Amino acid sequence: MPTKPIRKAVIPAAGLGTRFLPATKAVPKELLPIVDTPTIQYIVAEAVAAGVRDVILVCARGKDSIVDHFDIAPELEAHLARTGKTALRDQMRAIAKLANVVTVRQQEPLGLGHAVLCARALVGDEPFVVMLGDDVIDAPVPAAKQLADCHARTGLGTIALMEVPLAETSAYGIAAGPALDERTVRIERLVEKPRQDPPSRLAVIGRYVLPPRVFEILEALPPGVGGEIQLTDALAVLAREEGLLGYRFEGQRYDAGDRLGYLKANVAFALKRPELAGPLRGWLAEVIR
Ligand code: G1P
Repeated sequence: MPTKPIRKAVIPAAGLGTRFLPATKAVPKELLPIVDTPTIQYIVAEAVAAGVRDVILVCARGKDSIVDHFDIAPELEAHLARTGKTALRDQMRAIAKLANVVTVRQQEPLGLGHAVLCARALVGDEPFVVMLGDDVIDAPVPAAKQLADCHARTGLGTIALMEVPLAETSAYGIAAGPALDERTVRIERLVEKPRQDPPSRLAVIGRYVLPPRVFEILEALPPGVGGEIQLTDALAVLAREEGLLGYRFEGQRYDAGDRLGYLKANVAFALKRPELAGPLRGWLAEVIR
């Protein structure tokens, strides 16, 4: 049976961003920039590159400015046009035309699985991709597209995996199962943040191409680690029921939800900008001496 293409992305964006206080007291963490571009814009652009048209942001109170970022800004655009900055004006307009961005509210912080469940009515009966804004991935082929391609080939839900050091396994969902080829794993075990005896060193990274069946599983799921409805627990059920693949994506992942990871992402992305790379490299060489 041919699979339906991935047209919808669910981006959970309801977190308080406590790891970035005070920056996130009044500004949603999703709008903190990497160089000059909000982290969420990289995520939405990646979704679009994977074929997504509708982006469903699962928001919370105080996060409406994320939606403003994806709207047109007539006064700003008029000002840029008046002052001859038409290329910049066009860039601002292009952000508003990237995708059809809609929101739904997660009224209480009941976990990642619950956040995804909040998008159920907007996703409907088709496969979709969940993208976590904390995971920024720099890749030759956008990571969400790598997963969508694997899903198109196999018809199975496909989630992103990356090997991490043993000491870090307790910070991730950890997956294990037989390798089907050098990138693909048939997932047999999946544990959210194992405190001991992780089944492997393969960590789940925040990109998941999923069938709509996952909503039914989530709805019936009891709370897991931390008393929250865990997406990982629903995926363990999905793996048992109809099969689930892990895909060791190609690319560099940054944990933009962590201060050090965020700083690394800023340096790495700045070094890719022709106008910044030279001076930044020179300055870095000086300060680390
Ligand atoms: C979430 C998921 C976890 C996954 C991680 C990837 O955890 O629950 O399974 O490995 O994202 O970044 P969080 O980092 O939001 O606590």
